Amino acid sequence: MAKLRIVFRCTDCAADQPKWAGRCPSCGAWNSLVEDVEGPDELLPTFSPLGPGAQAVPLPDVDLGSGTPHPTAIAELDRVLGGGLVPGSVTLVGGEPGIGKSTLLLQLLARWPGRTLYVSAEESAQQIRLRAERLGVTQPELWLLPETTLTRIIDAIDTVKPEVVVVDSIQTITDHEVGSAPGSVVQVRGCAHRLVAEAKQRGLPMILVGHVTKEGGLAGPRVLEHVVDTVLSFEGDRHHALRLLRAVKHRFGPTNELGVFEMAERGLVAVPDASKMFLADRRAGIAGSTVTPTLDGQRPLLVEVQALTNLVASGAPPRRSAQGIDSGRLALLLAVLERRARLPVASHEVFASAVGGVRLVEPGADLAICLAVVSALTNVPIPPDVVMFGEVGLAGELRQVGHAQRRLTEAARLGFRQAIVPANSANGVDGIRVQRAATVTEAIALLGLTSN
Ligand code: TYD
Ligand code: MG
Repeated sequence: MAKLRIVFRCTDCAADQPKWAGRCPSCGAWNSLVEDVEGPDELLPTFSPLGPGAQAVPLPDVDLGSGTPHPTAIAELDRVLGGGLVPGSVTLVGGEPGIGKSTLLLQLLARWPGRTLYVSAEESAQQIRLRAERLGVTQPELWLLPETTLTRIIDAIDTVKPEVVVVDSIQTITDHEVGSAPGSVVQVRGCAHRLVAEAKQRGLPMILVGHVTKEGGLAGPRVLEHVVDTVLSFEGDRHHALRLLRAVKHRFGPTNELGVFEMAERGLVAVPDASKMFLADRRAGIAGSTVTPTLDGQRPLLVEVQALTNLVASGAPPRRSAQGIDSGRLALLLAVLERRARLPVASHEVFASAVGGVRLVEPGADLAICLAVVSALTNVPIPPDVVMFGEVGLAGELRQVGHAQRRLTEAARLGFRQAIVPANSANGVDGIRVQRAATVTEAIALLGLTSN
């Protein structure tokens, strides 16, 4: 009987190889071989992301009814999903192990008014029950299935008839018709295809959990992104309570909303006022501290940046350490300070961090990082009611960044009264005095940060 066969296919030249190799023997490309499956068509997992038997219809005849999102009772999740879960949609929740994916989804099912099914392919029913007790879950219609076999999971969906299904995780379930090890690309993709087809057929919203490693890789989330409708990324620093939920891909709405949670004793708690939480432990009057209104998606967040500098013995290469800030970006900003603002950065070790476990990814935070370093170097504190934002260019110029007004409004709301912004930035808002600077050097002068 014809069987499925594992092959390794080159993503560059598409040639098949029976064995994996670091370099494709056919075209010579490096690291281009990926595991794939071959065999007679009837054995290969069939897949239609739109459900079976779709027909062409005139646009105005398309029924919108079934595409309306159903709210989940977790407001921060609904904010990211643009209203809730769409029937028949498949959402992949990716994140590092231990970040709180299982907790979030258990809380979601616990608050769902109707019947739901939680498929646990990683933890025993007892472990889930313990977590549920910790969370105070009392929903009798939450059904639990500890199972790793795909066909049995689909059977359970048919018997239980849930309104929502969670599969935790996609990397640990197996389709025995695919002769490949659990967790391999072929298995993960095959199982996901099958589940997507089942979800579409039944109009059932389904959520898949996918583990991601620190590097963002791993068989799973990456290879699944095009298969599912929505990809959510759940992030945070395990040593901090803060958790950020964002949509990386979303077929039913914008991808720029951010959900903020705090991991507490009894599960995840929404943080509607994230800026306030970030600034809660801030101490005024300390040199080396600045606050910037950063924009994560549409949502402005006030984040404190801290820097510490120490003179090093001449000749020794000075240390640079960055937390929550890209180390390449920090190196660039330090070089700008050295060359354009003529500050003795090269003779100092520099530690810089974004406080509270946040990651500052947008260039709008450049000015705040620079001024924190300058304040630390000169030992001159920055007045506590000042915020700043702006991208710093290699010539030391300040470049405008998007949504200046939204940033300023958030700063004013939390009691900040002055802002240093790029010279060409949009108009200010009430309640906050805007000072414009064309270069980093001008910004330094505006704050009186001269060394003594
Ligand atoms: P978990 O949801 O198991 O993470 P994941 O599914 O992403 O691997 O969460 C694991 C961590 O969360 C664990 O370190 C314990 C912590 N936690 C709390 O702090 N409070 C809680 O109420 C729960 C359930 C977990
Ligand atoms: Mg888990």
